[in-house]
Amino acid sequence: MTLPSATAVIPTTVPCHVAPGRNLLTPTVGRPNPVRRGKPGRFTIPSQQSSERSSIRAQAAHRAYRARPRGVDMLDPSDVQSLKDVGYCVIPEVTVEDFTHTAEFLGTPRPSRPNGPLMDILTPKEVNDSRPGTISSNYGLREFPWHSDGAVDKDPPRYLLMRAEVANPQSATTDILDLHCLLDGGLFLKYSRLICETTTRRSTYLSPFVIQHNGIWRAKWDPLRMRALGKKAASFHQDVSEAAPTKRHHWTRGDLLIIDNWRCLHRRSATSTTQRAIQRIVVKNLPE
Ligand SMILES: [Fe+2]
Repeated sequence: MTLPSATAVIPTTVPCHVAPGRNLLTPTVGRPNPVRRGKPGRFTIPSQQSSERSSIRAQAAHRAYRARPRGVDMLDPSDVQSLKDVGYCVIPEVTVEDFTHTAEFLGTPRPSRPNGPLMDILTPKEVNDSRPGTISSNYGLREFPWHSDGAVDKDPPRYLLMRAEVANPQSATTDILDLHCLLDGGLFLKYSRLICETTTRRSTYLSPFVIQHNGIWRAKWDPLRMRALGKKAASFHQDVSEAAPTKRHHWTRGDLLIIDNWRCLHRRSATSTTQRAIQRIVVKNLPE
């Protein structure tokens, strides 16, 4: 496997050599919104939804929820195609209301941490100003390591949506690493044998870096809590850590960036300014 140098000049977009359509999106994304007009949906999720999901009653509730009237359907076919082809898409000039509607359209928004809000506000922080255990508390304003959001969760979110509320040309970028390019697509199976030790506040357990979930490959990556076991896994971990981005997004206020969190890793670039506020919602797909 030949990896791009971390110091190489980074093009805006590196084409991925994965055949279009091989991933990976559930049919949820490509399905047109059944109702395009009407009263905008509210950004609230029934609290009992997940626990009752297996029942016929809950399935019916899901169908009704998905079919409810919404004010706008943000994803057009080119956005869906971009998610399929390269694992992300960018939509400019998005309002906060449309941001939340788009999250609802993709699946079930959920807090990124226990008892947290559905929408986080991410701002660059010095180490001493950060919540303990966060990436900021370890890296401050330096470049973050590659990671996927919710990597140590039992069921990591499928999509990560970020909207710039405050941004200027000097603001930190968000970098994306498409594992389909890095792992040469079909080699996911090979990497599924590489194991890491994950440590959470409650337990320590072993798991592969990549695993197949309902026919879709899912990567989990948290350099703070996951430790590679064995030489091959350590080598793989090193390769990923040093990989160059396949996309570097420079933020403009109102940009909406949607990342396939199972397929792509992401990170914030180093920054010398704290003038940046990114709204974030993570989304778990609804069952079909
Ligand atoms: Fe993140």
